[in-house]
Amino acid sequence: MSEKLRVGVIGATGMVGQRFVTLLENHPWFQVTAVAASKHSAGQKYGEAVEGRWKMGDTPVPAHVKDLTILDAEDVAAVAKEVDFVFSAVHMDKEAIKKLEDEYAKHETPVVSNNSAHRWTPDVPMVVPEINPDHTEVIKYQRERLGTTRGFVAVKPNCSIQSYTPALQAWKKFEPTQALACTYQAISGAGKTLEDAPEIQGNVIPYIEGEEKKSEDEPLKIWGHVDDEKKEIVPADSPVITSQCLRVPVLYGHTVAAFVNFKQNPTKEELIKALEDYSGVPQELGLPSAPKQFIQYLDDDFRPQVRFDVNYENGMGISIGRLRTDKIFDWKFVGLSHNTARGAAGGAIELAELLKAQGYIQAK
Ligand SMILES: NC(=O)c1ccc[n+]([C@@H]2O[C@H](COP(=O)([O-])OP(=O)(O)OC[C@H]3O[C@@H](n4cnc5c(N)ncnc54)[C@H](OP(=O)(O)O)[C@@H]3O)[C@@H](O)[C@H]2O)c1
Repeated sequence: MSEKLRVGVIGATGMVGQRFVTLLENHPWFQVTAVAASKHSAGQKYGEAVEGRWKMGDTPVPAHVKDLTILDAEDVAAVAKEVDFVFSAVHMDKEAIKKLEDEYAKHETPVVSNNSAHRWTPDVPMVVPEINPDHTEVIKYQRERLGTTRGFVAVKPNCSIQSYTPALQAWKKFEPTQALACTYQAISGAGKTLEDAPEIQGNVIPYIEGEEKKSEDEPLKIWGHVDDEKKEIVPADSPVITSQCLRVPVLYGHTVAAFVNFKQNPTKEELIKALEDYSGVPQELGLPSAPKQFIQYLDDDFRPQVRFDVNYENGMGISIGRLRTDKIFDWKFVGLSHNTARGAAGGAIELAELLKAQGYIQAK
C-alpha cells in the first residue's frame, strides 16, 4: 500500500467517534485527516474538545488527531474536500442524519455509517463483512438514485445482533427456523460509562428503546439478497427472531442467552464444528481488522464471560458457549460480542476495508 486513504470522522467527539479515532491510529490503509462534530465543538482543537469527556479509559487521546481543528459536520463541502470518505457516528434526529449522510454521498464522499438512520433504506447495504459482503453490489443502484459516481452510504447493523447472528449464520446449513434472543447489554451502548450512569449501578433496566425491533429485524436484511429488478435488497423471511433486550451494569460487552430451532437435526459436535470452521471474505482477503478466528467455542460452563472474553480477537471475534439441548427449543447457547469494537467502530472500519478491497472506496 503506497498512499493511505484520507478519512474523516463525523461525530468524532462522541463515544463511538472516540473509538473510531483510537482504532484508526496507525491503521495501515486509512489516515484521519478531518474530525467533525456539532457547531458547539467546531473550531476547537480535538484534544481540548474531548478534555473531561474522554471515554477510552487509560488509552490517551491519539497524537494523530489531538491537534486537528474540529470542523462543523454540517459544513459538508469543507469536510469533503479534506477526505476520500467518512465514518459517521452522530447523535441527531434520524431524518437529519439521513439528510446529512446523503449530502456527503452527493459530495462524492462515501459514508460508512454507524447510525441506524439509513439501515432500512432499501438500496443501502447493511453489512457484517463475514456474513453478507456481496450486498455491496446494491451500491450501483444507490448511486443511480443519488446521481453520484463515487458517493454512497453503507451501514453496519446494530450492536445487539452481533452476539447471536454470527452463530445462526454458521448454522445456516442446518436451516434455523426460529430463534429467541435475550440480550444483556453494556452501558457503553448508550454512549455512557459506568460513572456517567448511576441509574445502572447495582441494577438491571428491562427496556432499551427500539432495541428489540432492531434485534429481530436487522438479521433478516443481512440474510436478504440484492434484487436486480427492484434495484434493492429484499430481506429474508426466516429464521423468525423474537427478543428481549436488557441493560446491565457492564461497561463493554453484550451477552445473549439464545435459543434456536432447526429444520435439520444437527448434533452438538456438528454445531461446534460449524462455528469453529466458519470463515468469511475478510479472513480470505486478510483485511487489517478481520479476526483470524471469527467465532470461538468455549467448552466451559462459566464462559463466555465479559471479564475474560470481551476482547477476544481485539474485540472483533464472537464467543459462544453453553451449547445444550432444550425442552422447548432444539438448542440453546450463550453468546458474547464487544459492542463498540465489533458492534460499532470496529465493525464499521472492517466494512470500510471491505469496500476498499472491493474497489468502492478509492482516493479522490
Ligand atoms: N455507543 C454505542 O455503543 C453505539 C453502538 C452502535 C451505534 N451507536 C450509534 O452511534 C451514534 C453515536 O453514538 P455515541 O454513543 O457516540 O453518541 P454521543 O457520545 O452522544 O456522540 C454524539 C456525536 O454527535 C455529534 N453531534 C451531536 N449533534 C450534532 C449535530 N447537530 N451536528 C453534528 N454533530 C452532532 C456530537 O458532537 P458534540 O460533541 O459537538 O456535541 C458527538 O460528536 C448514535 O447514532 C448511536 O445510536 C452507538
